[in-house]
Amino acid sequence: SKTYTIASIPGDGIGREVIPAGQRVIETVAQKRGFAVKWDTYDWSCERYAQTGRMMPEDGIEQVKGSDAIYLGAVGYPGVPDHVSLWGLLIPLRRELDQYANVRPVRLLKGVQSPLAGRSAEDIDFVVVRENVEGEYSEIGGRIYEGTEREMAMQEAVFTRKGVDRIMEYAFELAKTRKRGHVTSATKSNGIVHTMPFWDERFAAASERHPGIETAQFHIDILTAHFVLHPDWFDVVVGSNLFGDILSDLGPAVAGSIGIAPSANINPEGVYPSMFEPVHGSAPDIAGKGIANPVAAIWTAAMMLEHLGEAEAAADIERAIEHSLASEETRTADLGGRANTEEATNAVVDALSA
Ligand code: NAD
Ligand code: IPM
Ligand code: MN
Repeated sequence: SKTYTIASIPGDGIGREVIPAGQRVIETVAQKRGFAVKWDTYDWSCERYAQTGRMMPEDGIEQVKGSDAIYLGAVGYPGVPDHVSLWGLLIPLRRELDQYANVRPVRLLKGVQSPLAGRSAEDIDFVVVRENVEGEYSEIGGRIYEGTEREMAMQEAVFTRKGVDRIMEYAFELAKTRKRGHVTSATKSNGIVHTMPFWDERFAAASERHPGIETAQFHIDILTAHFVLHPDWFDVVVGSNLFGDILSDLGPAVAGSIGIAPSANINPEGVYPSMFEPVHGSAPDIAGKGIANPVAAIWTAAMMLEHLGEAEAAADIERAIEHSLASEETRTADLGGRANTEEATNAVVDALSA
């Protein structure tokens, strides 16, 4: 039978609680569907940074490059500045493995209550496609004259034609696989931000290449309002690195909780492994208590298996998640339930085994 090699990087905080939960679920579904996983586990984290001065070894990227996929929890912990943990691990992985498409589905699952009145599952079902390697998150800039009156901080936003065109292409191709076939662009092109008229031109060019796909575009400010007031307007939403980041925390809030939101950092050409991580971070405020919602990591595991070609296993997991969310006994507190991480995971595993 088929064996996949998956690099697992639990990272920090609740990453260490939800990644083992996801691994348990994968092991269960693998047995059922007749494939196997070889786990290569890496202790790359803020703790490792405290011991060695590095988040990951110098040849870290080389070490994971040969795996079929990477399964990451989150990095970041009080005591290590976020820019150290992020530039030392998360960002280099995304960039050096050219994972330029960050795919973040938002769905109101059965059993979950939206904070929006009167909304049900058919109203909230969209995907944020976020440009993941350039844009506002550029390496050009920094801080100078720190602590003086002349102190300043600068960062250039970088939008390349190649970079924008390929994320547009990804979004339109994804829309073709969905029922509605609609793409919304997140922009800010009223002439204030210089990069965004360019973004709009490339969006229009992509739209011409894909005449079957309907489109819309909104400035990011009003788009956030529409996410709350009209989530049913959206199918695929394409955004720059920063806009996509913001929308992909807002979306899950509208769909119940950041604790369920999955994410895939895709290298569409398959030259490098893609990386799968929940949208949420290491949540230091609840870390170590065993109460984190494992569903984001488990849904992320389903995306990973789908990417590896195990579509049936992925569908099994999604069904099991919905089953587990149906009862307060097996939902975690962020969803108004009474379960801890282990109980919530057990419910998914049990539903898979049933
Ligand atoms: P966060 O997502 O860690 O937490 C935000 C809030 O949501 C917290 O109140 C937290 O308790 C809650 N929450 C998050 N996930 C949850 C879950 N599974 N179940 C229940 N509640 C959950 O975001 P933050 O507080 O902005 O960041 C904390 C740290 O995580 C920072 O160091 C940040 O840099 C890092 N971070 C890392 C990643 C990553 O590595 N991919 C992503 C986001 C944030
Ligand atoms: C995410 C996170 C990261 C991002 C941070 C931690 C750098 O918020 O994965 O959404 O902005 O990409
Ligand atoms: Mn984010």
